[in-house]
Amino acid sequence: MYTLLFVIAAYLLGSISFGIVTSKLFGLGDPRTYGSNNPGATNVLRSGNKSAAALTLLGDGFKGWLAVWLTQKYGPQFGLGDGAVALIAVAVFLGHLWPIFFRFAGGKGVATLLGILIGINPLLGLATIGTWLIVAYAFRYSSLAALIASVFAPFFYTLMEGPDMILLAIVVMSALLIYRHAKNIGNLLAGKESRIGSKKNGGK
Ligand code: G3P
Repeated sequence: MYTLLFVIAAYLLGSISFGIVTSKLFGLGDPRTYGSNNPGATNVLRSGNKSAAALTLLGDGFKGWLAVWLTQKYGPQFGLGDGAVALIAVAVFLGHLWPIFFRFAGGKGVATLLGILIGINPLLGLATIGTWLIVAYAFRYSSLAALIASVFAPFFYTLMEGPDMILLAIVVMSALLIYRHAKNIGNLLAGKESRIGSKKNGGK
């Protein structure tokens, strides 16, 4: 019962799309109407507003971290263990991808997954962010960096913690992240993907 309550709360938290909220606050319009149409930090950056993009990144990452942290800190009082952490991580991630507050048109999950990974194990988060940064610096494609980092994340976790329910959750989230990047993968293969920092008309 408590697990279900935590899962619902995590899904609702994940449904707060910081890309949409921040863009509204900054008067930038809905990020789902320009660039790649994704309400994520990379696309908000295409509006030209770096502060809005940074807040999107931090907000979407924070909610992932918060869901995991709250479960780890207060879950044991309600009999919740690692299995619940795994479920709650997936729930907050699903909220970000398919948010109930925004007609289920959410993001691709990169910042939220990074926040979740930091919550699970800060070293795991750092290793995954490091992978993202290396690929992004080398190729200037946010999507490629996210795809490669998400493939590496389960391996990093296995090395650090071994196989368990949380590994399964990370594999599921990485698979969903890749699925949400289908258009980006097509663009990358066709040489049409827009690079980090390109403006609103890019990133289709
Ligand atoms: O954060 C999502 C990123 O990996 C790709 O974003 O807007 O280029 O599709 P975008």
